[in-house]
Amino acid sequence: MASTGHFEIFLATAPGLEAVLYEEVRSLRFRAVKQVAGGVTVDGDWRDAWRANLEVRGANKILARIDRFRVFHLDELAKRARRVAWDEVLRSDIPFRVEATCRTSKIFHSGAAAQRIADAIRDTLRAPLADDAAVTIMARIENDVCTISVDTSGELLHKRGFKVAVNKAPMRETFAALFLRACGYSGAEPVVDPMCGSGTFVIEAAEIAAGLKPGRERVFAFEQLATFDRGAWDEMRRATTPTTPSIRFHGSDRDAGAIEMSRANAERAGVAHLTTFAQVAIGDLTPPDGLPGLVIVNPPYGARIGDRERLHALYRALGRTLRTRFSGWRVGLITNESALARATELPFKPPGPPVNNGGLRVTLYVTDGLA
Ligand SMILES: C[S@@+](CC[C@H](N)C(=O)[O-])C[C@H]1O[C@@H](n2cnc3c(N)ncnc32)[C@H](O)[C@@H]1O
Repeated sequence: MASTGHFEIFLATAPGLEAVLYEEVRSLRFRAVKQVAGGVTVDGDWRDAWRANLEVRGANKILARIDRFRVFHLDELAKRARRVAWDEVLRSDIPFRVEATCRTSKIFHSGAAAQRIADAIRDTLRAPLADDAAVTIMARIENDVCTISVDTSGELLHKRGFKVAVNKAPMRETFAALFLRACGYSGAEPVVDPMCGSGTFVIEAAEIAAGLKPGRERVFAFEQLATFDRGAWDEMRRATTPTTPSIRFHGSDRDAGAIEMSRANAERAGVAHLTTFAQVAIGDLTPPDGLPGLVIVNPPYGARIGDRERLHALYRALGRTLRTRFSGWRVGLITNESALARATELPFKPPGPPVNNGGLRVTLYVTDGLA
């Protein structure tokens, strides 16, 4: 039973990042961690679902899979959906909504499937249905097996609840965290982002070093469920012991507005004392004093044909600065075109799979320490 026993928890990510998320989830000591298409699964109870939302930096969304059954017809779905233990999970006074997807199944009409499930919840629990409800039930019917999940996160998890200011092409915090991990960053070395935009990489890296949990301030959908215990959740959230690392995290950008944004975002995230932001064009960048660490950067992308020459020049300038001044530093570069990565003339290792970042396929290119 979902409310008392263990069930499967699914942590979603973008295809291509499953292996990195798997490493992160394993490091956080969850049970029975498995890498699957589109994410990672673990075994757990409701507290594990809360903890996943609180601690996992890389997941986009966390689903509690509360029931699973074979089903071939809509009538059968309507009947079986009434037997899901809704009263153990949902509250009769909190509005809910249902999303359904159907793949290679006899039931192929996702709207009708969602309707049958919504009717079952209304009839058994009398909970109100609302399009803008904070609680979403997700039904996935695949190969005639219906999996019923509750979205425990609500708003996508890259919304940590701190960032007010964003620029044109911000990196999602969840992706930033996974790209940092894929570059071997563990919180123990300085990080430089020379085209920092709204400061995502720098702030994320500082939070990791300081032991600040990504979900420490935001609200989650699981707070609206029958299984929620405010006292136990507050205790879990407060159990953090942040540290003050001696290393620092540096962002720069040629745009003054970006620097202002980054500072405001770092302030709100509580890492202003660990970060520095300066208005510097890439040609003028020098490394911070001290030991080398990681340069991570996602320069402007090639979106329009006319941008080609300007962008190649920018990537060449980035490569020149890093090759001539950043000896000993590793580089992680995220871009959407291999020709742009090559224009830097940096010694990248063979890249991993491309990842869909808000509709754009991007790839992470990584070097060892530069000569
Ligand atoms: C794709 S955005 C980076 C987004 C950032 N990672 C974030 O999460 O907000 C690229 C950034 O490169 C900056 N940029 C472009 N040309 C530059 C240059 N020559 N020197 C320094 N920064 C530059 C832009 O101002 C922009 O903020």
